Amino acid sequence: MKGRKNEDVRGSAMAYNVLLFADPGIDDSFAIMYALLNPHINLVGIVSGYGNTKKEQSVKNSAYLVELGGREDIPIIAGAAGPLSGEPVQYYPEIHGPEGLGPIRPPDSFQNIKVHDYNKILEIVNQYKGNLIIVNVGRLTELALMFILYGDNALKDITEFYIMGGAFLVPGNITAEAEANFYSDSIAARIVMEKAHNVHLYPLNITNRAIITPEMVEILAENSPTSFRPLLKPTFDYYFKAYQKNVPGIKGAPIHDVVPLMAITNPEIFKYIPRRVKVEEFGNAKGKSIADFRPKPDPEPLETLDYIGMEADIPKFVENFMEIFLKGDYEKK
Ligand code: BDR
Ligand code: CA
Repeated sequence: MKGRKNEDVRGSAMAYNVLLFADPGIDDSFAIMYALLNPHINLVGIVSGYGNTKKEQSVKNSAYLVELGGREDIPIIAGAAGPLSGEPVQYYPEIHGPEGLGPIRPPDSFQNIKVHDYNKILEIVNQYKGNLIIVNVGRLTELALMFILYGDNALKDITEFYIMGGAFLVPGNITAEAEANFYSDSIAARIVMEKAHNVHLYPLNITNRAIITPEMVEILAENSPTSFRPLLKPTFDYYFKAYQKNVPGIKGAPIHDVVPLMAITNPEIFKYIPRRVKVEEFGNAKGKSIADFRPKPDPEPLETLDYIGMEADIPKFVENFMEIFLKGDYEKK
């Protein structure tokens, strides 16, 4: 079932209602900007938790971006400070910067932005009953907590889940086996993959290919008519440098977290394989995403199948990315 598009979100654009869970983070920040700019996405809240950076910083970064975009009306919700295991968190300043936005330091406080508590999530879910897509591009702690706190039916009215996480038939990026969002709270990832329905998954095997180059960002830094323009080059350059160190010879940086959002509004770009996804919780393969890719997989009940992103039309990804940042459609939203 595809999430219903809103008839008339704010007078003009037809748009999908999206509640975003993120840990900005540079690619998360691109995802937030993309969601704000895409006229077919109506961002109804951002849950900001620990992950690439501390929870408090992650909240500030989301607040900064909605303020820059002139969308202080979008609720910012403070998420989790750490994983369900209670283990200490490892942050990634070498990839995302000490404050999560590369060299950019957002202000410490925001006059017109209210930061909400966790229970605001339930309020939003009820408000948009039957017409809300959840996109998760951070650790899965907050989403797993919904099931823990409110029961297995807590999110039954969500039309679809779009999740960046896992890695199929390719190496991980945190360990040889595991991708960062699944690894950092493998218990939560296991819970979400077991209990959420209508899941579309965007793993490293496609997001690693969603590469934006410095040349493209140069074009945006000169021509984007949006209020985000000054941020694009410094944040991207920082992130790209880290990728150059980790992946010698790479020509650009993968903007993982934009992928699930683009998949909502541009479904023709992606191809999926329906399989049941499981997540290793502990041990050497902690955070590993598992699916049965044998030509004749063991049969699984239909309702347990997830749609695993396996192919992406990268030139179309780039085209849409550039178009959204060059149009600045948010002014019309
Ligand atoms: C994922 O991990 C995070 O560091 C990125 O923001 C992305 O969500 C990629 O593995
Ligand atoms: Ca992220």
